[in-house]
Amino acid sequence: MPRLGSETLVIATHNAGKLKEIGALLDPFGVTCISAGSLGLPEPAETGKTFVENALIKARAAAEASQMPALADDSGLCVAALDGRPGVYTADWAERQWFEGPAGRDWYMAMGKVEGMLCQLGPETDRSCWFACVLAIAWPDGSSAVYEGRANGSLTWPPRGTMGFGYDPVFVPAGDSRTFAELDPAEKHAISHRADAFARLVAEQFG
Ligand code: IMP
Repeated sequence: MPRLGSETLVIATHNAGKLKEIGALLDPFGVTCISAGSLGLPEPAETGKTFVENALIKARAAAEASQMPALADDSGLCVAALDGRPGVYTADWAERQWFEGPAGRDWYMAMGKVEGMLCQLGPETDRSCWFACVLAIAWPDGSSAVYEGRANGSLTWPPRGTMGFGYDPVFVPAGDSRTFAELDPAEKHAISHRADAFARLVAEQFG
């Protein structure tokens, strides 16, 4: 199994928030992070059918272009009664093309779409779901490592809470009655799918 050394790690994201979050998680292990965006690397199309495929596409593209090890993540919401949808299309379900102005993401619309599909299946429909997060590391020699994390829960309606992002207001983590958007960020980060995937990465790479 390849392991991260003291070399700089490229974070395959153009999102400054993600770079900050991942950089803070890896800092205690002496890993210096730099974003693919700041290196001017192109963003590959996420054409995979699974979170693993998409995370590997992003990590491999960044490792090849930079000739440095690269880390990418892919995540989304999977609903049991919808055969795991929206899954890798989680962000796409929020895409809205306004009549005027730029396209944007409308999370209320996306949550409503999921709820509408569940309602169509009937009042007794299983509302269980999970957030999935895959972290992939790729090295310039072509080797790679993949870590999968998961947070189980169920969907509630109407949305509740003002913290977090995306589908957090309708996701009630297993063992709690509050939604992710009602949890203090530190509480969410302790039990999230991202935390689960990171714990697996840290155990294997730095354990
Ligand atoms: P990506 O991994 O950046 O492609 O994001 C996929 C989408 O999944 C995001 O745009 C969010 O809508 C959703 N998602 C991923 N993680 C979370 C989370 O922790 N809370 C709410 N939504 C999430």
